[in-house]
Amino acid sequence: MKADPKVLAALNEYLSYELTGHRQYLIHAAMCRHWGLQRMARIQEAYSAEETQHAARIIDRILLLDGQATPRELGPVAGGATLAAQLARDHDLVGRAIVHLRAAIGDCEDSGDFVSRDLLREMLDDEEHHLHWLDTETRLAGQLGEQNYLQSQLG
Ligand SMILES: [Fe+2]
Ligand SMILES: [Fe+2]
Repeated sequence: MKADPKVLAALNEYLSYELTGHRQYLIHAAMCRHWGLQRMARIQEAYSAEETQHAARIIDRILLLDGQATPRELGPVAGGATLAAQLARDHDLVGRAIVHLRAAIGDCEDSGDFVSRDLLREMLDDEEHHLHWLDTETRLAGQLGEQNYLQSQLG
């Protein structure tokens, strides 16, 4: 099945975000575990695993459209040095993914590729929930104070 090159480019660009997220959350999970923050480590691990599944679905779609999976590097992935810095880094990545997805969904719609559109719409739903979670954690950290917030991540 031949696809609009614009759709393939949009899928590949989103694949780059998925793989970058996968690596970033994996590193954050390991750092949190190293710091003894087990709750946050479990959550970051789950986000990392979810991105692997998302990436596989995007690659399947690209292949079905006779395209090639050619994600680009979005720059070095370095973990935030503190939990607050990790949340800020993740917020930045998810925010940029959302901007890309909104435009990409429009491109899929324009080319009449409603299956790719629905797939990316589903991804957008997940990213919006992720952003909401990051906002909630950041707000809680501010309300509870750093010591209390860190304590809430131990278990
Ligand atoms: Fe994802
Ligand atoms: Fe994500």
